Amino acid sequence: MNNPKYLGEFTEEEAEKRGLKLIVADFGAEACGDAVRLFWLVDKNGIIQDARFKSFGCGTAIASSDMMTELTIGKSVDEATKITNLDVEKALRDDPNTPAFPPQKMHCSVMAYDVIIEAAAKYKGVDADTLRDEEIVCECARTTRKEIVDIIKKYNCKTIEELQQYTKAGTYCKSCVAPGGHEEKPVYLVDILAEINGSNPETKTDKNSENEITDFGKLPLFKQIKEIEKIIDKNIKPALAMDGGSLEILDIQKDDDNIKIYMRYLGACSGCASSASTLYAIEQELINKLNYENIKVLEVR
Ligand code: FES
Repeated sequence: MNNPKYLGEFTEEEAEKRGLKLIVADFGAEACGDAVRLFWLVDKNGIIQDARFKSFGCGTAIASSDMMTELTIGKSVDEATKITNLDVEKALRDDPNTPAFPPQKMHCSVMAYDVIIEAAAKYKGVDADTLRDEEIVCECARTTRKEIVDIIKKYNCKTIEELQQYTKAGTYCKSCVAPGGHEEKPVYLVDILAEINGSNPETKTDKNSENEITDFGKLPLFKQIKEIEKIIDKNIKPALAMDGGSLEILDIQKDDDNIKIYMRYLGACSGCASSASTLYAIEQELINKLNYENIKVLEVR
C-alpha cells in the first residue's frame, strides 16, 4: 500500500508511440467514498501489454487496485474480466492461509473487479452491464443469486447460518445478509431464503449471533465503556491497522440512553478520504455487536 508498483497513468501520445490502444476506465464505490481509474495499453490482438492505476481511497483499496493492475498485464481483455476481488485478495497474501485483509475490509477490494469490467466494456464498445451477465448478490464473495438458490434448495437451508456452511456469501462485510449494513443492496440473502422457504428466515446476523451481551442498555456505565473498548480493540483497531492507522477514544458520555463516543483518528486514518464512511462503519459495528441502537461515534480533529 505504501509503494504501489503500478500507480501512474498513460497518455494518448505514449500509447501511440508504443503502437498500442489506450483504454481508460473509472469506477467508484459510493458507499466507501473510494474511486479507481484504470489505464490499459492493449495490442492489436487484444492483449493488455501494460497497465497503471490511480486510486482515491483507503490503503486496502490502493493495495487491491495495485494487485488488480498487475494481474491484468499479459492477459487478454476477456481473460482479465475473469479476475475477481477474491483473486486479488489471494494474490496479496503473504501467507497462503492468512487472508490479506480482515473480512470487514473485503468490500474495499470489490472495485478491482468492477473497474476491469468497465475497461473491458470500453475496449469492446459495449455497455458494462452486458458483461456482468449474472446477478451478484454477495459482491465480497462474488456469489450469484443462482448459486445461492441452488445451495438453499440442495441443502434445505432455513437460516443464514445454515446457508453459510456451504458458501462464503455474507461472511465478509455482511452488507448482503440483511438491510442495515455497510451498503444498501437490491436483494439480500434473507430475501432469497424467504423466497425459497416461503417465510422469514431465522436471521442470526451479527446483531445477535456473535453478540454475547444480552442487555447492554442495562449495564452500569463503567461496564458499558469496557464493552465498547473491547470491541474497538478486538474488531476495529486491527482493521484500521491494516491501512496503517488507528484511533484513540477521547471520551465516552451518556445522556439518558444515548451514548456518545468521541474519538480521534491516528496515523494514516487521520485525513484519509474515507474517514467519514469509516466512522459510520465503526458506529454500525458497535451497534451490531452491542445490539444497542443509541450509539453515536463522533470524530474530534
Ligand atoms: S457483500 Fe460483503 S459479505 Fe456479501
